[in-house]
Amino acid sequence: MRFRDKVAVVTGAGSGIGAAVSKRLASEGAKVVLVGRTKEKLQQVNDDIASSNGQSTVFPTDVTDENAVLDLKQFVENEFGRLDVLVNNAGSSGKSSIRDLTVEEWDRVHNVNLKSVFLVSKVLSDLMIDSKGEDRSIVNVASLSGHKAGAKIPHYSASKSAVINFTKALAAELAPGVRVNSVSPGFIETPLTEDGLQNERFQSAIQRHTALERVGKPEEIANLIAFLSSSEASYMTGSDVLADGGWLIT
Ligand code: NAI
Repeated sequence: MRFRDKVAVVTGAGSGIGAAVSKRLASEGAKVVLVGRTKEKLQQVNDDIASSNGQSTVFPTDVTDENAVLDLKQFVENEFGRLDVLVNNAGSSGKSSIRDLTVEEWDRVHNVNLKSVFLVSKVLSDLMIDSKGEDRSIVNVASLSGHKAGAKIPHYSASKSAVINFTKALAAELAPGVRVNSVSPGFIETPLTEDGLQNERFQSAIQRHTALERVGKPEEIANLIAFLSSSEASYMTGSDVLADGGWLIT
């Protein structure tokens, strides 16, 4: 029970990696605030956690909206009076050549992937800095694409490499009270990759390029995020940890 009596906020908690990490933290004792845009999806995760005797609360919101994030802070403060773990996981992708990429699409992806990480960290870290020597942690979800840019995802690649460097800047500033790290998943089976993974050629290209010869599962990233969020990672801050099945070494 690494998170007994701890309070955690997970963004993008309604599906994929966010849902898996929320369940994982709750299974180890955390009270988890499930943040995302779609109430029904959050409610489903909340029900799953309750049926395993975990504790969670649903907070539907748009993490790119400053006022909504201020409301989230107020909620966490009123409800729990503390915050131990923040997982900035909400994200979005999109495929476009640079010629066809519109400014609106560039902004949309940067708003969700980068601005929200800044905004939620800025506002909620206030509740973490008051720490009395207890281990507190922020984990930002970056991507393999933040390390190795790919054609037709210039906006996604740029936003994710920025998350990796933002993480380091934040880690330097919030030390020693709050540890801040990022994770960079490779191809993980979630709603974000669902369409691509239905294409057999794409599937087999991924298998060929991945040392472990398969896509990853959300739970495998949740394991890593839970470790970084726990005091087992007490000497880690400003790190980015790749979990790409060995994509970069092939
Ligand atoms: P997903 O689509 O299941 O999860 C993203 C979640 O973020 C969704 O629940 C969505 O509703 C939420 N979200 C999007 N915009 C939001 C907003 N403005 N406010 C609140 N919530 C919002 O996909 P997945 O794969 O679980 O993605 C989670 C994170 O992992 C993302 O940051 C993604 O970029 C990253 N990632 C995923 C990889 C993959 O292969 N699935 C690989 C590398 C990184």
